[in-house]
Amino acid sequence: MSDSKPPRGAPPDSPRRSTRSYGKLDRDGFIHRSWMKNQGLPDHAFDGRPVIGLCNTWSELTPCNGNLRELADYVKRGVWEAGGLPLEFPAMSLGETQMRPTAMLFRNLLAMEVEESIRGNPIDGVVLLGGCDKTTPAQLMGAASVNLPAMVVSAGPMLNGKYQGRDIGSGTDVWKFSEAVRAGQMSIDDFIASESGMSRSRGVCNTMGTASTVSSLTEAMGMSLPWNGTLPAVDARRQALAHLTGRRIVELVKEDIRPSDILTRAALENAIVVNAAIGGSTNAVVHLLAIAGRVGVDLTLEDFDRLSRDIPLLVDLMPSGRFLMEDFHYAGGLPAVMKRIAHRLTLEAPTVSGATLGEQIDKAACYNDEVIRPLSHPVSEHSGVWVLKGNLCPRGAIIKPSAASPELLEHSGRAVVFEDIEDYKARVDDPALEVDENSVLVLKGCGPKGYPGMPEVGNMALPKKLLERGVRDMLRISDARMSGTAFGSVILHVAPESSAGGPLAVVQDGDVIEFNGRQRTLQLDISEQELARRLEQWQARQLAPAYQRGYAKLYIDTVLQADQGVDLDFLRGASGDQVDRESH
Ligand code: FES
Repeated sequence: MSDSKPPRGAPPDSPRRSTRSYGKLDRDGFIHRSWMKNQGLPDHAFDGRPVIGLCNTWSELTPCNGNLRELADYVKRGVWEAGGLPLEFPAMSLGETQMRPTAMLFRNLLAMEVEESIRGNPIDGVVLLGGCDKTTPAQLMGAASVNLPAMVVSAGPMLNGKYQGRDIGSGTDVWKFSEAVRAGQMSIDDFIASESGMSRSRGVCNTMGTASTVSSLTEAMGMSLPWNGTLPAVDARRQALAHLTGRRIVELVKEDIRPSDILTRAALENAIVVNAAIGGSTNAVVHLLAIAGRVGVDLTLEDFDRLSRDIPLLVDLMPSGRFLMEDFHYAGGLPAVMKRIAHRLTLEAPTVSGATLGEQIDKAACYNDEVIRPLSHPVSEHSGVWVLKGNLCPRGAIIKPSAASPELLEHSGRAVVFEDIEDYKARVDDPALEVDENSVLVLKGCGPKGYPGMPEVGNMALPKKLLERGVRDMLRISDARMSGTAFGSVILHVAPESSAGGPLAVVQDGDVIEFNGRQRTLQLDISEQELARRLEQWQARQLAPAYQRGYAKLYIDTVLQADQGVDLDFLRGASGDQVDRESH
């Protein structure tokens, strides 16, 4: 495991990686070129021009990435125009709404695949085409470890959802509607009818879910051109952005600007600040920590609390607010937000465009103060993530205060414990369950190792009998994540997780849990001796056979806890782009 900065590869005056394969007038050069020519490439495609890989996570099983095949063609136009050779390759695609047990289990597998695909092939730079939640973080992690020039083109958000005359948001309204059905306030027919209105164009979730959070933070970190975070997927200007990215990546190769030049501590800190102002997903925490681990930046959970502590929530978007990504873009998008919090950003941070962040947002303007609020009139004073400590989470836990009920940000109540997700599903709606609105719902077995993969189940639905009585929020605690589209008073990412023997594992029904958000504490109200006694008696559960082999076993054996970004321990650090041996 290495926490050092990624190497820069060969000295700048040595031949390009592609030239080392395609520039040789010998048997090896013949082998590299000849087979490529079966795709109709002429001789001059191998004249020493930069070769640009297009790492594409398009898949029909990842509907959010459905426009990436088309966007890749626009990137290619730009690469050819700038005198490069574009070569597209597929990478494992992770459809958040399709994969079981959870797409997060495979983020690190995709990161590994991206790293080795970039490293193993004769390319000089890469454009990462991603969209759905885990695809972009994985691509950034892999590309950062190789450290060849890289830029991101995201799929972009879907158009606003429409249903019965109003806007509805991806995910956010699924949670609301399904609770309304369980509370008897919405018919199942209306519920099903809203499906097609919610997802009515290509693109990622139209709320400030994880996908739009990550594409926005990618823009804030300088790894994409401006507007990548917010331009709607079907807006022709996103195609133009892809074209311009193709042109720019060729220059980036010539200028030898690499991810390690862009993904500095300043860039990561900018991302944390921006995440607070936009009400971004809690998933940004594990993804930014993992990316930091690849580029040797010692980012910690505490940095998130420290940097977002007094940043107000400025963007009024679901799930924390009212509007959707389309509205956000038309209001001025991310540049307008960054201009409003410019005094909290490192404006000298370089970006892949060649301009500094400050130069990039200099001319930004806001066109709708309802969507992007002025500092004097924020959506909420509370934003970002609060990082909690206490005997229940010795290595931390987080809560998104802007998505929580203010009255629950300080709460103490008796635990109602579910040992795993099956236990929760079997008993949550049992009329005999001893629970009231002051109870604290505790869910175990949903961390990185336990589920496995740390699924988005932390915002567990409330017991039906409480919903019917009008209860709409309760304090919930787990070692899981929650969807970026979700909301509620939900304490997540408890570390160490229960399946690794963290104190969460030994919480029992009726234990009193004390949460004080302002003081950032989360305590299990039992004596030290009693906690020690229970932990000594605790025994790990046997894994299901499917998780005792293959990638899942590798993952469970080596995955880091949430406070370290849930990367595999041996993937932190960098491999670099040097591969000295030939294939024949
Ligand atoms: Fe793919 Fe939301 S489910 S972006």
